[in-house]
Amino acid sequence: MTAGMEREPARYRGPRSVQRTTRIERRAELFVGLLFFATILATLGLIVSYVIGANTQVDGVLLAIALGGIGGGIVVWVQYLMHTPTMIEARHPMQPNPVAEMSPAQAAMREAESGFTRRHLLLGMLFASVGGLLTAIAVPLFSLGPLPNGRAWFTTAWKKGSRVVDVNGNVVHASQIPVNGIMTVFPEGAPGDAMAQTVLLNVGPGLLQLPADRASWAPQGFIAYSKLCTHAGCPVGLFRATEHDLMCPCHQSTFDVLDGAQVTFGPAPRPLPQLPIQLQPDGTFVALGDFPEPVGPAFWNQTLGGGA
Ligand code: FES
Repeated sequence: MTAGMEREPARYRGPRSVQRTTRIERRAELFVGLLFFATILATLGLIVSYVIGANTQVDGVLLAIALGGIGGGIVVWVQYLMHTPTMIEARHPMQPNPVAEMSPAQAAMREAESGFTRRHLLLGMLFASVGGLLTAIAVPLFSLGPLPNGRAWFTTAWKKGSRVVDVNGNVVHASQIPVNGIMTVFPEGAPGDAMAQTVLLNVGPGLLQLPADRASWAPQGFIAYSKLCTHAGCPVGLFRATEHDLMCPCHQSTFDVLDGAQVTFGPAPRPLPQLPIQLQPDGTFVALGDFPEPVGPAFWNQTLGGGA
């Protein structure tokens, strides 16, 4: 050592166990930071992937990284960086060891360094991770499209006086549907409308067993039902003429055409709504109004009370 130079006294860093703990904590902090950073990158990737329309496998991997990063980070944080009170079993008094014990100032400094107070950066990254994840989950909500207006869920394009047309918009004539025939029809002005799609059947005269207040809705054996299955909304297009059944191809719900489309089999919870129609002198049909109840899955009137 050169004369005049004094060696700086070795700084006391506490007992070895404390030094080792501090090293482990620093590594844990770094690891937690990396995990949260991975989550942030993955959530940004999820948003970009949604915008550019990447495939769902990419979305799945990114989501796994995001959730794994945030979950792993929290676990490591709790395990290594949060100091919970230690319960010490009483034991025989021992002689105090002045080397092993920290001074009150050191203990206070260590306390100040522990927990959240020293880890504002990690806390910020945790919030950024959670925020990014929530944003990535919320962004696809924009794909749900516009909210329906007013009672749009409960009504269709059928109105009183709507002429019955086929999918090409041509007016339907009774002569086009022979006995045991079926045709998908729409209101004039809305051919192809998903909510208004209707099956028009001809079961022939004298077979229908409709409630008295609906008998006039099915002139000369022509009867019209909503084509949307009341189970999950599939188009009900299979007509078994000999049984007079309409069957849904999705889960095989079966509706009795002669008996007001009552459900005879399958998970559909209610009959197909019947459209009131009238046969005109020229052989064409007009609607006497909209369906008397919402079409499609039972959700409409069970949950929202939109039934007529
Ligand atoms: S959608 Fe028709 S039975 Fe399920």
